[in-house]
Amino acid sequence: MDKKVIVVGGASGVGAACVRSLAAAGASVVSLDRSEEAGQEVARQAGQRFRLCDVTDRDQVFTAVDGAAADMGGLDALVHVAGILVQGPAEEATDQDWARAMDINGRGPMLTNQAALPHLKKGERSSITNFASSAALTAYPNGAVYAASKGAVTAWTRTIAVEWAQFGIRANVVHPSAATSMVEQHLSKMNDEEKASYAEMMRQKVPLGGKFGDPDRDIAPVITFLVGDGARFMTGQNVAVNGGYYI
Ligand SMILES: NC(=O)c1ccc[n+]([C@@H]2O[C@H](COP(=O)([O-])OP(=O)(O)OC[C@H]3O[C@@H](n4cnc5c(N)ncnc54)[C@H](O)[C@@H]3O)[C@@H](O)[C@H]2O)c1
Repeated sequence: MDKKVIVVGGASGVGAACVRSLAAAGASVVSLDRSEEAGQEVARQAGQRFRLCDVTDRDQVFTAVDGAAADMGGLDALVHVAGILVQGPAEEATDQDWARAMDINGRGPMLTNQAALPHLKKGERSSITNFASSAALTAYPNGAVYAASKGAVTAWTRTIAVEWAQFGIRANVVHPSAATSMVEQHLSKMNDEEKASYAEMMRQKVPLGGKFGDPDRDIAPVITFLVGDGARFMTGQNVAVNGGYYI
């Protein structure tokens, strides 16, 4: 694949798998993340570059995206994977929870997408792939703030797909389910009984395998497809890669 790609959130989980998958497909990749050591290591192992970037800092985002495009001699695609999980009952959600979730999961993609735009406009077949969650499409008890922040990036992506189509830029949003450190964080807050009932819920709700997917085998190949020209007629879509959860 002859594409120059920025992966935002490439230090861990699904983002790291995307760095590996895109690199294996022949793309040039620059990985951005706020986690420097892990980000450097993932990129190094994939033979790619890394730049430090916190997606909530507008100046850092524009500097990192411009630098990454300069590193690669252009930009064909931005894959924004970075995000955080915020949990708790809706009734107890604080202003700080809301601000943090919206800042990273909502404003973060806005900033990276805006920073990538002038570079993507120069190409003929460019794309943006943002990451939301099934929580944006179906009820997510004990995670209303997270769900709202993922609703924001879902709605944002749908609209830029229309606004930026005139520049030949496609924009899709992915709703993944994958065993990563984010899921570990989610499970770590549960006692044994809660973990058992969560595992049972997954068994019942996920027709394909009854559990979370594998970032490398189940999620990243779909992202590599979305970045490639085989997806040239796909834009504004909700792409659920979750084993059929909630269907
Ligand atoms: N794992 C799942 O089952 C699942 C389900 C639904 C949605 N998602 C979404 O998929 C994406 C990837 O999730 P994951 O499971 O790989 O998570 P992860 O925690 O393993 O990785 C998230 C990455 O984002 C980075 N990041 C977080 N905040 C950042 C910031 N401010 N600036 C720069 N980088 C930042 C982290 O350093 C980390 O490398 C997230 O957007 C997540 O909300 C995951």
